[in-house]
Amino acid sequence: MAIIPLEEINNVRMHANIVEVIGSYIPLMHRGKNYFCVCPFHEDHSPSMSVSSEKQIYKCFSCGAAGNVITFIQNYENVSFIEAVQILAKRYGITLSNTISPSVNDKNARYYEMMDYAEKFFQNNLKTDLGKQARDYLKERGLDKQAISEFGIGLTLSDRKMLYRLLKGKKFTEKEMDDVALVNTHSDPYDYFVNRIMFPLHNPNGNIVGFSGRIFYESEAAKYVNTRETVIFKKGQILFNYHRAKPFIRNEKRVILVEGYMDAIRLYINGVKNVLAIMGTSLTKEQIALLRKLNVKIILCLDNDEAGQKAIYDIGQSLKKDNFEIEVIKLSGAKDPDEYVIKNGIEAFKKNLKETIKYLDFSLNYLKQNKNLHETVDLAKYINDVLADIASEKDEILIDITLKKLATDYNLEYDMLKDKLKQLETNENVKTEVSVDKQTNVKERPKNNKYIIACKKMLFYMMNEAKYVRIYQNNLVFLDNLNYREIAKAIIYYYETNKDINLADFLTFASTNERFYPIVLDIINECNEEEIDEDVFMDYLNSIQKGNKQKTIKELKESLKDELDKSKKIEIAMKIAELKKGSV
Ligand code: CTP
Ligand code: MN
Repeated sequence: MAIIPLEEINNVRMHANIVEVIGSYIPLMHRGKNYFCVCPFHEDHSPSMSVSSEKQIYKCFSCGAAGNVITFIQNYENVSFIEAVQILAKRYGITLSNTISPSVNDKNARYYEMMDYAEKFFQNNLKTDLGKQARDYLKERGLDKQAISEFGIGLTLSDRKMLYRLLKGKKFTEKEMDDVALVNTHSDPYDYFVNRIMFPLHNPNGNIVGFSGRIFYESEAAKYVNTRETVIFKKGQILFNYHRAKPFIRNEKRVILVEGYMDAIRLYINGVKNVLAIMGTSLTKEQIALLRKLNVKIILCLDNDEAGQKAIYDIGQSLKKDNFEIEVIKLSGAKDPDEYVIKNGIEAFKKNLKETIKYLDFSLNYLKQNKNLHETVDLAKYINDVLADIASEKDEILIDITLKKLATDYNLEYDMLKDKLKQLETNENVKTEVSVDKQTNVKERPKNNKYIIACKKMLFYMMNEAKYVRIYQNNLVFLDNLNYREIAKAIIYYYETNKDINLADFLTFASTNERFYPIVLDIINECNEEEIDEDVFMDYLNSIQKGNKQKTIKELKESLKDELDKSKKIEIAMKIAELKKGSV
């Protein structure tokens, strides 16, 4: 893959006017110094995003999204950093040198190439005489030629050396074949998959990273076998059909989540294309992050068995924490969406799609299962579970309706339920505040003390102008906060390698670092309105130095208490006095 030199990236960033670019996607209003628009990164109704022509950055007051023109394209188009730069370069007629550098990505390129050969090879097997039984099986399942080709479905035969020979002929090493788990090369090399119908699995960028092989004849063996975890295949980081469905999901503004490959394929080939399979019944953190990027409503449509229903409940709980809007489809008379469509047709499915229920309603029903609500103990547990569920709900009207319904259905005091809910909500808030604090989340900022504010403002100045980086360096400022110290280090590093700094370009650099990017965004959110003024900067610098001094004094005073040695005690006391005078 191409690695673009930083000067070229900055050149693209400079030519791509942020006002023009964002304005081409979303209507902008000019107000004062800035432009405003409805934020595309959260459910927004009033214009909470400001776009600064001067600083060439955007920032949402409501959800905390912020960045430069490149991160905007990355998040809006849901593409990688490099792709975003390429899109902008193309738009502004800038040619990129496209230097290929020997990096990890290059190694992956060879892996992807190998996977592509394997896919073509498997597809070809399916077309041969030996593929008849598998072809019949697929036909039986209602997959025609077009579906087979669209999903790249293929076949492995019983000869365990076929793929090995092919890849060797293409000059891939045994190690490379083993790295991606296509061939087991530990002793006598043999192909990993045999006698299975092969489904290629892609990463979000559309590269094949693994395969799933399905058995198609009577056998005791596992129904599906997937590629083991490799350098390029991490099952928990992909969602089946993501690269194909992405544009349709964005268009429809919602995504249907199903369990299995066949469920997704069935819906997709019947024209319901905004579908992804989670490949089982759980959703990983990484998969949730992928969904987050899509920024759409989620419709859970899992299997009709107990495991599927439990999965809906559990997945809903974790998605709710991430503020997703969640709805549920309940299909009756079939074990999964695949069978449902086969039995009833796609129109019947689409009708269900129009009659989704809110996740809260689903969970109210789900929580009733296995409880006898005539028994006091069960009823109390039920009501408590439901209240816990409502406590994290955002929709006030929905909350009120639910409480009223509980009150009438179970003959309880509405006010009592409401009080109990309030209690739970407070607990919930305390919990989120604690966790937010740890991650320096931009949405709900932890309380800022003077010192922290001064650190943030100072770093903000430094991101904007080289002059302030130099003042910082000359004054040997120490920041008594690890995160901010690291940002300062990054700023200095950026300044020293590029001999200059400005906010928009520093953001490009910061956005590739997952760990400190949120902190940088938090700083921008806090300080964006700040007018740059050297006197003010010096004030911040001084108050940081003062804060450090006070902390040292405090520490010395503590040690004074514990110190028994008289002469040492005097020494410490003198140090304190000196510090107080300000001579150190
Ligand atoms: N799965 C898997 N490995 C297994 C079993 C299941 O990865 N050993 C994943 C697959 O993505 C599968 C999904 O879990 O599609 C759901 O499993 P299941 O319901 O058993 O499969 P179906 O999709 O219904 O498969 P089919 O219709 O082919 O029987
Ligand atoms: Mn299934």
